[in-house]
Amino acid sequence: MKGKRIILGVSGGIAAYKSVTLLRDLQKAGAQVRVVMTPSATRFVGSETFVALSRNEVPIHVFNGPEASDVSSSWSKHIQWGEWADLMVVAPCTAHTLAALVHGFSDNMLLTTALAIRCPLLLCPTMDGGMYRAAPTLRNLAVAREHGYHILEPDTGYLASGLHDAGRLPENDVILNEIHRLLQEGPTIDHSSGKHAKPVDLPLKGKRVLVTAGPTREFIDAVRFISNPSSGKMGIAMAEAARAMGAEITLIHGKLPAPVPPELNPSEIVSAQELFEYVSAVSANFDVIIMAAAVSDFTPLNQVNHKIKKTDASEQLMLKPTPDTLKWLGENRKEHQVLIGFAMETDNLEAEAERKLVSKKADWICGNLLNAPNSGFETDDNTILLKGRASQHLLTGSKRDVALGILKFIFT
Ligand code: CTP
Repeated sequence: MKGKRIILGVSGGIAAYKSVTLLRDLQKAGAQVRVVMTPSATRFVGSETFVALSRNEVPIHVFNGPEASDVSSSWSKHIQWGEWADLMVVAPCTAHTLAALVHGFSDNMLLTTALAIRCPLLLCPTMDGGMYRAAPTLRNLAVAREHGYHILEPDTGYLASGLHDAGRLPENDVILNEIHRLLQEGPTIDHSSGKHAKPVDLPLKGKRVLVTAGPTREFIDAVRFISNPSSGKMGIAMAEAARAMGAEITLIHGKLPAPVPPELNPSEIVSAQELFEYVSAVSANFDVIIMAAAVSDFTPLNQVNHKIKKTDASEQLMLKPTPDTLKWLGENRKEHQVLIGFAMETDNLEAEAERKLVSKKADWICGNLLNAPNSGFETDDNTILLKGRASQHLLTGSKRDVALGILKFIFT
């Protein structure tokens, strides 16, 4: 990001306070950052904070006062800044600012600047979960995508309202990764020569990557199923990391607690059998397959479509094995295809990862320990022992960083 010119647009939600550290992190990554705010953002953070940190003025209003003589000297800043920038990011992007951007309104400096830029526009929608799922917001997000704007989906977690829901501003490292990816997609401007710089070659550019994520459900009857607590976070992190490295992604996932980013081309499956049928039908089209799904090894021998009554329940639940998709992929692999599996263990991580690597004919197994600190289902962090045929590597950190680390280790 060194030397890249970024406009940070801050709109008026409680997450505006996080934009201060986002500005600092962008600067630490080497970017030059200018800030524009909406008037309501100043209710949450003083513009002086951004003036001091960006060492630049922070345009807010198109006009300063009611008289012609009060017209702000910055009224045409949007044109100059629009030409200057390599990328504009709006973080947080409130429901209101999203709606205004989608419809081309331009009655504050953030909106006029966003219209004037000639570079990618990244929006980080941040709001209450109900507002995020409301029909007008979903439609505005869809139209924003049609305009070519880039959307970074919000995180799920505790919101300022106290609710646990989708709508949080993603962590700074996630926003930085997305900015980095968009800047690398290019074409960007080489500011020393004024010419368009050649886009950097991404290690997975042109590669088709299939990722599976989340749990399967094995229905016993109409209302009960066997499953596991997988949140799909690691699989989604792998898909996003592969996308950040230039790959074209297809994501197959089980039922997940949070909305899945549409740019990952997601399809939902329910059972291990459905997963197997889907993956085995399409696998030949992919260069890399990442099996991060937590697949049930067993399914009821007999599934009934009605609800089994308490009085009718037998004492035994008879199970049969499900198809092992990764093993099938290993036995039916295409030339040059790279197969990456996962292994969630409670004991003997290294030996189990080695056993699965060999028995499933995978190229890599990402092993993790269920009970280790910062590891396991539903957490945001992970510790992975990446085991290959000739080498192994230990990675720890946020699932996003670990996912990037895994793919960088394998593909660079
Ligand atoms: N896997 C699969 N199909 C299954 C079970 C697992 O494709 N029916 C894949 C998982 O997606 C993962 C890898 O195989 O990439 C290892 O999964 P894991 O559950 O750790 O191993 P199992 O094969 O189930 O072996 P065990 O139960 O002995 O640990």
